[in-house]
Amino acid sequence: MQDLAYVNGVISDVKDAFVHIEDRGFQFGEGVYEVIKVYNGKPFVLIPHLERLKRSSVGMGIDFPWEIEFLEKEVLRLLAETGLDFANIYMQVSPGSAPRSHLLDKDPTPSLVMTIRKAAETGMLKEIKLIAVEDIRWKKCWIKSTNLAANIMGKKIARQQGAGEIIMYEADGTVTEGGSSNIFAVRSGVLATPDLECNILAGITRKIVLEIARDRKLEFKEGKISLDELKLADEIFITSTTFEITAVTRLDGITIGNGTPGPITKSIHADYMAMIKKHCY
Ligand code: PDD
Repeated sequence: MQDLAYVNGVISDVKDAFVHIEDRGFQFGEGVYEVIKVYNGKPFVLIPHLERLKRSSVGMGIDFPWEIEFLEKEVLRLLAETGLDFANIYMQVSPGSAPRSHLLDKDPTPSLVMTIRKAAETGMLKEIKLIAVEDIRWKKCWIKSTNLAANIMGKKIARQQGAGEIIMYEADGTVTEGGSSNIFAVRSGVLATPDLECNILAGITRKIVLEIARDRKLEFKEGKISLDELKLADEIFITSTTFEITAVTRLDGITIGNGTPGPITKSIHADYMAMIKKHCY
């Protein structure tokens, strides 16, 4: 069992995998990506991730010559080579490499790289502290772009303040999303999350949570949430492929609820884990 890399069809050790210095992903930040989690040797909701990779790529104007079925086979081939049961799959598409010029007369061959690295087996509901930072990103956050400088600058501030994630807000106070997660709040029994018009990524975990809420007949609404409203929530949790469902216990130093995961967070986490068990075990 070992971590492995994939560069345009060629599998190697991660330390031996390289792309060219004139790759446009490296020089211009033209790149899109996905992170997929493997449980018990099986990627969870792989196809929606591959479909989003394609949407992001097309959205950024990067040629996407691969069929989804081909990508699925390549992911499974690499995963089988690693022999890993619990892992994170990272996939990145860039336009490929060419002598540096903002605009090219002829597109290079797009590049597909992957790594699959061992991850911890999870299951426990984790807790995290958030700090709020202004959202200084571009206007197409539905594209899962590798341009994560703003997210990382925010996450560094969070770490300096002893928090594990940021929540970003627009100049008018409207909450968008975390640095690498979506956000949900519960107030008076109603689940709320920013809608897809709020310049956020359409998280795959977010979508699953909304399906769980529907199945549980929970009252929920998608729409604008202000940072002030968020601070009054009874429960907050963040969602992502790697955070799964993680309970937020403090926001900007304010204790959320009684400072421990609330009942709705716990029940959604339990249902999410049950869904993983059903699909991957
Ligand atoms: N990020 N919003 C942002 C900005 C993200 O980067 C992510 C995921 C999400 C959640 O998406 P999903 O539920 O589909 O994983 C929302 C990945 C995990 C990362 O950058 O590592």
